[in-house]
Amino acid sequence: MRSLRTGLSLAALVTGAALLFTAPAAHAADTPLRDLAAAKGKVIGTAVTGSKLTGTYGDLAGGQFSSLTPGNAMKWGTVEPTQSTFNWTEADQIVAFAQAHNQQVRGHTLVWHSQNPSWLTTGTWTSAQLSSLLQNHISTEVGRYKGKIAAWDVVNEPFNEDGTYRSTLWYNGLGSDYIANALTWAHAADPDAKLYINDYNVEGVNAKSTALYNLVKDLKSRGVPIDGVGLQAHLILGQVPATLQQNIQRFADLGVDVAITELDIRMALPSDSTKLAQQKADFKSVVAACVAVSRCVNVTVWGFTDSDSWVDSTFPGYGAATPYDANYAPKPAYYGIAEALGGTTTTPPPTGACTAAYSVSSQWNTGFTGQVTISCSGASLSSWQVSWTYGAGQQITQAWNAVCTQSGAAVSCANASYNGTVADGSSVSFGFNASWSGSNPVPAVTLG
Ligand code: XIL
Repeated sequence: MRSLRTGLSLAALVTGAALLFTAPAAHAADTPLRDLAAAKGKVIGTAVTGSKLTGTYGDLAGGQFSSLTPGNAMKWGTVEPTQSTFNWTEADQIVAFAQAHNQQVRGHTLVWHSQNPSWLTTGTWTSAQLSSLLQNHISTEVGRYKGKIAAWDVVNEPFNEDGTYRSTLWYNGLGSDYIANALTWAHAADPDAKLYINDYNVEGVNAKSTALYNLVKDLKSRGVPIDGVGLQAHLILGQVPATLQQNIQRFADLGVDVAITELDIRMALPSDSTKLAQQKADFKSVVAACVAVSRCVNVTVWGFTDSDSWVDSTFPGYGAATPYDANYAPKPAYYGIAEALGGTTTTPPPTGACTAAYSVSSQWNTGFTGQVTISCSGASLSSWQVSWTYGAGQQITQAWNAVCTQSGAAVSCANASYNGTVADGSSVSFGFNASWSGSNPVPAVTLG
């Protein structure tokens, strides 16, 4: 016994993980999404941030997807922040990464009302000047990447919800013909790139998608180069439009390709296993709708990991919208995509959870310092309480980063005012000092 009570015993160094927490990686035997998609004649893509394309993020972006869309790198405000001063660094990097990984690139986007440089939006332009600025922009950017871009989102978000044209710099200055002109200029700069009009809330049959349909029909009848429509698909959990496949089909029947260009499916936080299961079903039904229509050529997710999504900052209270969690573990949604692409998943879809682990970090002859770490994956917490029962008379004397009470052998620790939130993919720890004598067994902890 003496040896156990003096100095650092081996037991003091052992981590007592009361509930083992592991972030499952995609099973090595799982076929990558890009291979499953290829077998169905489809392309599967993701939006990416150039600076992140290393490590696990780079491995997944390159290994799982056959197409990349720069999330921001090709927008006008990024590439020409000051008039005539260009910055192609991130766009070039993404194109080079895609070429190295045998991937397509979707160029995004040439004509939009948002993320334009301030010199452009605050300038006073005649319509002739505006037209020539737009033509130059399109010729320069499309020309720079000629032969390297499979498809361009030439015009982004031209419509209001009721199907009227959105009031923008372009519509107000140039009238609705800015769309036909932009397509014509893009075609002149790269005749091989497929040219798209891209919008949101056009996934189902509704007034907005019907306006897009009528526009495409009109452009085709006029001989304007239009190859496809992009359905962004920023969706809400449980709200995949029932008419998605029918809508894809009606565009296909017009003689254009369809791409799901920005798929994400957000949920009210915190996530839980029920929501993650619904999200799996939703991703599966969107991808299945594309698989069912031969002219639906590409499904692209708008960020593949919850750590690289625009949702959390754009829709407060919502998140967890992508197929991988913030630690790059595949969520049930990942398996929904795989199954819709004909994959049989060899790894059971993980369910989200938050767990607590207790460990002794140092121990001396009468006392010890302990630590509890609460970790969440595929789930999150807004408050927490951890309890355990000591089996050998241990007594807590002091705690930090939690409010702890002990009654007999029963210990209960609740979050402090400032650390109740444990986001999906993150962890929170608290510590304590306690006395012991005789032995110091690790208790089982319960997270409530
Ligand atoms: C988003 C990006 O993901 C964010 O990083 C940025 O702050 C705002 O734009 N529709 C589009 C995309 O066409 O370009 C938008 O991307 C999301 C909505």
